[in-house]
Amino acid sequence: MERLLPFRFDEEEGVFWLLDQRRLPQEEVWVPVRTAQEMAQAIRDMVVRGAPAIGVSAAFGMVLAHMAGEDLEEADRLLRQSRPTAVNLFHALDRMRPHFGDLKGSLEEAKALWREVEETERAISQHGAKVLKGQVLTHCNTGPLATGGWGTALGAILEAHRQGRVCHVWVDETRPYLQGARLTAFELMRAGVPATLIADNMAGFLMQRGQVDAVIVGVDRMALNGDFANKIGTYALAVLAHHHGIPFYAALPLSSVDPRLETGQGIPIEERPPEEVTHVRGLPIAPPGFPAYHPAFDVTPHRFLTGIVTEKGILYPPFDEALRDALGLH
Ligand code: MRU
Repeated sequence: MERLLPFRFDEEEGVFWLLDQRRLPQEEVWVPVRTAQEMAQAIRDMVVRGAPAIGVSAAFGMVLAHMAGEDLEEADRLLRQSRPTAVNLFHALDRMRPHFGDLKGSLEEAKALWREVEETERAISQHGAKVLKGQVLTHCNTGPLATGGWGTALGAILEAHRQGRVCHVWVDETRPYLQGARLTAFELMRAGVPATLIADNMAGFLMQRGQVDAVIVGVDRMALNGDFANKIGTYALAVLAHHHGIPFYAALPLSSVDPRLETGQGIPIEERPPEEVTHVRGLPIAPPGFPAYHPAFDVTPHRFLTGIVTEKGILYPPFDEALRDALGLH
């Protein structure tokens, strides 16, 4: 089955088309984006989501800003304000800055970034597949839809299944936004991988019964010591896996490491509207007006990690040394 990618670029028309991930899996609706301002709104509204995918989208947002004649500083500012946690967004925009005022250069840079996503994720999938076997549990959505490439954690799972190593995937529904139920389930089904959806509070039950051989998740931002932010619920899974002696891996491109952060304490955590907790796809599930809280990410301390899957191979503790080596920071 061919990959379903989250975007495509129509260079002639100056339109970046986004597959509206809010409507999946029920409907496949493509949204045209013509300006950086529209791109920032689409990222904030989660038409496109997933750390690498919002990085590529932001880069093309700057290309659109050139094509549409927008104020480039303002375009950059709007895109930087769209979502705070995934470092890929800022990394992508930093790469676009030297090309301000140069449409050709900016287009080449955005295309290069997208190509790198593809290349690094092929390597991540190959490396990650080696450590997965049997029944694997994952959280949120880290497949091609989240990246524009082959996927990170889910890329490794798909590759491990192709190699006959993984036989079954437990898919956390990933409340409150349901990226697991809507997107990961959809991608696994399209790929023909045997998988079962579970509510987020069922992972402990399965681990206790010996039905999970490994957990692998993606990353929105990792600090130099290996602490990392990922979708809310990741920390609880890491603690559970640790308690049960189950290997727990994070998969990421090295561009998701923030070299300015020594630990995970400084990672900004996005807070999203409480209505995303009190309502499920527009339907209320709590008494009207009842307060709700929605931190969209949590930070998992590095001590719960068995290994970090990167395009350069799998890193093992001590992670601060391994990450500095991989990033060439010595
Ligand atoms: O809020 P989202 O859907 O953008 O969150 C996505 C995640 O948390 C993913 O796990 C992460 O971006 C890694 S994607 C390869």
